[in-house]
Amino acid sequence: MKKILITGGAGFIGSHVVRLFVTKYSEYQIYNLDALTYAGNLENLVDIENEPNYTFLKGDITDESFISNLFEKYQFDGVIHLAAESHVDRSIEDPMAFVKTNVIGTVNLLNAARKLWANNAEGKRFYHISTDEVYGSLGAEGLFTETTSYDPNSPYSASKASSDHFVRAYGETYGLPYVLTNCSNNYGPNHFPEKLIPLFINNIITNKALPVYGDGNYTRDWLFVVDHARAIDLVFHEGINHETYNIGGFNEWKNIDLVQLLCSIMDDKLGRVAGESAKLITYVKDRPGHDLRYAIDAGKINKQLGWEPSVTFEQGLEITVNWYLNNTDWLNNVTTGEYATYYKKQYLK
Ligand code: NAD
Ligand code: TYD
Repeated sequence: MKKILITGGAGFIGSHVVRLFVTKYSEYQIYNLDALTYAGNLENLVDIENEPNYTFLKGDITDESFISNLFEKYQFDGVIHLAAESHVDRSIEDPMAFVKTNVIGTVNLLNAARKLWANNAEGKRFYHISTDEVYGSLGAEGLFTETTSYDPNSPYSASKASSDHFVRAYGETYGLPYVLTNCSNNYGPNHFPEKLIPLFINNIITNKALPVYGDGNYTRDWLFVVDHARAIDLVFHEGINHETYNIGGFNEWKNIDLVQLLCSIMDDKLGRVAGESAKLITYVKDRPGHDLRYAIDAGKINKQLGWEPSVTFEQGLEITVNWYLNNTDWLNNVTTGEYATYYKKQYLK
């Protein structure tokens, strides 16, 4: 039986990856290692928590001896590394938290994998999950490819770029078998309501202002989270060692257009008159260092591994909005406590 460690499996993307692996691969034992920070939530996994091939391990990847002992104890055959501090605005407030988890945490995992697989790396794989934000910002034209130079602008993207470089360096220096993917903005169920789409869905439901940064003319490429999880499955099993793949949704939207679309979907769902939710749109102070545009050329993973998104943006948004409307307990639970403090500091100062 293969033992696969998934880090950050209680978070947004991680929970979808854990679910896919646990339900699809009964021959694997899946270990979900997560520190359960504000972003980690075991409620995301209630439907699979009792599966015999699933084990949850609470722990912090920044704890070197804990990680080293864990690898010795469980003898993992593969690692899918998603644990991270993931929010750009929080990275602007507290860059060091991002250095600790994203850089030092990743190097702890790399060291443990390298040691465990030193004498037999056959069939082993370290899969690092990263972001397109490492490439910096595009102008109006062009796409990020796998050969685009790294040019990170935020403390978040700088920490992810650093972790990507360490993964490659361990591949080159120690022969660690790795694959790496850089993905565009995800959306979908279980997304913590600090990021644009779930924040705005929650604020529309609760009739709060929709804080659009700057003029709203910033562009992101959006991918449904389940399609990211499908890509991760494919790359983990069929990706070539020491290769990187860009993953994207072929789905660019200016923030303000996306917000208008969300408002009209929510008007329909909530039985409001057309245009009512859009009245909540409020232009606020811009994010410092705000990247103008991200857009991905996902041609490599498409041509080499045959991956493409399985749902349209319309279908994905429909699933997402319905999920939030049907999971008000989840939303209420994550928007109390720490969230209220964060919200006040970020939006009401
Ligand atoms: P998230 O913030 O929702 O979840 C992160 C998870 O990591 C949480 O469960 C948290 O508890 C856990 N974690 C944080 N610090 C930890 C630590 N020190 N030790 C152990 N666990 C820890 O993030 P997400 O959006 O699901 O992103 C997952 C990964 O995918 C990240 O590496 C992120 O950089 C990458 N990524 C995200 C996106 C996106 O749009 N969200 C796009 C591309 C890549
Ligand atoms: P976000 O969801 O934080 O993802 P990222 O910064 O990693 O792309 O933000 C997506 C876009 O939405 C980005 O251009 C910033 C903008 N944004 C707002 O305008 N208002 C907000 O309150 C948030 C959280 C984001």
